[in-house]
Amino acid sequence: MAKYVIVKPKIEYMSSKSLTSMGHFRLVIIGGSGDLSLRKLIPSLYACNLEGHLGDGTIHALGRKSFTDTEFCDLICERNEHMDRNSDFFHRLKYHQFDAMNNQDYVKLRDELPDANTTIFYFSTAPDLFHIIAEGIAQCGLVDENTRIVLEKPLGDSYDSSVSLSDSIEKHIEPSKIYRIDHYLGKESVQNLMVLRFANAVIEPLWNRNYIDHVQITVAETVGVEGRAGYYDRYGALRDIIQNHMLQLLCLIAMEPPADDKPESILAEKVQVLRSLKPLKGAAARRDTVRAQYASSKSKSKGYTEEIGVAKGTQTETFVAMKMQIENWRWAGVPFYIRTGKCMERRLSEVVIQFKEVPHWTLNVPKKNRKANRIVIRLQPDESIQLLMQIKQPGPKSLELKQVPLDLYYADSIDARLPDAYERLLLDVIEGNSTLFMHREEVELAWKWCDGVLDAWQEDSMPMYSYPAGTWGPEEADILIAKHKNSFWGYGQGGED
Ligand code: BG6
Repeated sequence: MAKYVIVKPKIEYMSSKSLTSMGHFRLVIIGGSGDLSLRKLIPSLYACNLEGHLGDGTIHALGRKSFTDTEFCDLICERNEHMDRNSDFFHRLKYHQFDAMNNQDYVKLRDELPDANTTIFYFSTAPDLFHIIAEGIAQCGLVDENTRIVLEKPLGDSYDSSVSLSDSIEKHIEPSKIYRIDHYLGKESVQNLMVLRFANAVIEPLWNRNYIDHVQITVAETVGVEGRAGYYDRYGALRDIIQNHMLQLLCLIAMEPPADDKPESILAEKVQVLRSLKPLKGAAARRDTVRAQYASSKSKSKGYTEEIGVAKGTQTETFVAMKMQIENWRWAGVPFYIRTGKCMERRLSEVVIQFKEVPHWTLNVPKKNRKANRIVIRLQPDESIQLLMQIKQPGPKSLELKQVPLDLYYADSIDARLPDAYERLLLDVIEGNSTLFMHREEVELAWKWCDGVLDAWQEDSMPMYSYPAGTWGPEEADILIAKHKNSFWGYGQGGED
C-alpha cells in the first residue's frame, strides 16, 4: 500500500484548526484495541497529527489485552500500512491494560494519566458497559467540568433503552459534555448538504413541494455482516443505519434554514423534521415498508441466515426500503423513499432530488423524451453533485431532447484530500464544538419513530423478503416505489453504470 502523502490543499476545505491554544488534552479511548479504534480512530488521529492539527495532547488506548506501548504501536502499523512507525505521533500514544468491570483499574488509570486541561473519554465499547464506565470514571474523580465523553452508537435499541442509557450517564456527567457520534455527520459530503442548500441562492426557492416531486436516499453497502453478526443480528438495517445515519441525512435535506450555525439552532430545525415525520405504524408500515434478507448467490456463498453468529430462524432484516412523509408546509405530499442494505450490487450513498416536470410542454416532444430535472448528490464513493438538465439533441430532424448532467466532481474541482469523518469529529470534540454531534432529543425522537415500524414488523403478517446477494434488493422495493409511478435511481438503474 502507498505511504501516506499530504496533498497541500489549495482551498481550505476543512477548517484548519490548530489546537495548540486548547492547552494540553488527554484523549482516552476505552475499547482502544477494538476494531473501530484500530481501523478508524487512531488512523484519524494520526492523520490530524500529520497535518499539524492535533496540538498538544496525549492519546491513551485502553483495552483488556496486555500490550506494551511498543507492541501496541507495532500492531497499529501492521493494521495500517500507510503509517510511519517513526512518526512523532507514536510518542504521544500510550496503551493501558484496563478492564471496565474492575474498580481498581479506574484508580490505576487515574494515577497513570498525565495532567491535562481537558480530558476526553471515548466510549468505544459494547453499549451495555457505558453506564458502568461513566460511574467508574466519576467515582475515581476523573470527571470534572473539563471532561467530555463521546458515545459511539448504538445508543440503545429502542426509545426506552435509549432514554435509560442517557439517564444513567447523565447521573455522572453534565448533558452538554456528552457527544453522541454519528460518523455520517463528519463526512465532508454530508456537511456539504448544508452548504449546498444554505450558501446557494438558486437552490432554496425550488426546495419544496411546489417543485420537488419526490426525494430518494440510498445507503447501499456491498459488505455483509463481516464478523459482526453478533451485533448485527440484534439490530438489523433499520436500527443500524436508518435510525441514525439516514434520519440524520433526511433532517439535513428537509430542515428549514437555521437562524445561524450554532449547535442549538441546527438542533431546533432537525427536531422539527423528526417531529413532523408521519408515523409508519400498523397497516401503513405494512403498505409502505419492505424488509428483506440477502440470500446466497453467485457473488456470495452464504446467505444471511447461514452466516456464523446469526440466530436460528432470525427475523433480522439486512435490507429496508420505505416511503416516508414529512407533514409540514414545505414537504406535504412529497414522498421520501429510503433504502439501505448489506450485500448490494454497489457501494453507494446518494440523495436524489427529483423535480416535477415543467408545468406545460410548450415544445412538441414525444412523451418518452419529457424528463424532469433531477439533482443527484453522491455522498460516497466519488463524491459529486449533478444537475440533470434537458438539452436539444443536435440534428436537423424533429425536436429530440437529451438529459445531460451539469457535473461537480469533487475530485476534479477540489484539490484536497477528503479527510475521514472521524478526523473532523475528533477534532471537534477536542475543541468542544458539538455542532456535528447528535443531541439526546434527536436520538430519542428517531427511536420513537423507528419503534412504530419495529412494532408493526413484529406482527406475524409482515413478510420478510429475500434478495440475491450482490443485487439492488428485492423486487418488492421496486414495486413499492413503482406504486407511485417512480423508480429508484442508481448505478445501472438510470444512473451511470
Ligand atoms: C455503521 C454501521 O454505523 O456504518 C455499519 O454500524 C456500516 O453496519 C457503516 O457498515 C457504514 O459506514 P460507511 O462510512 O462505510 O458508509
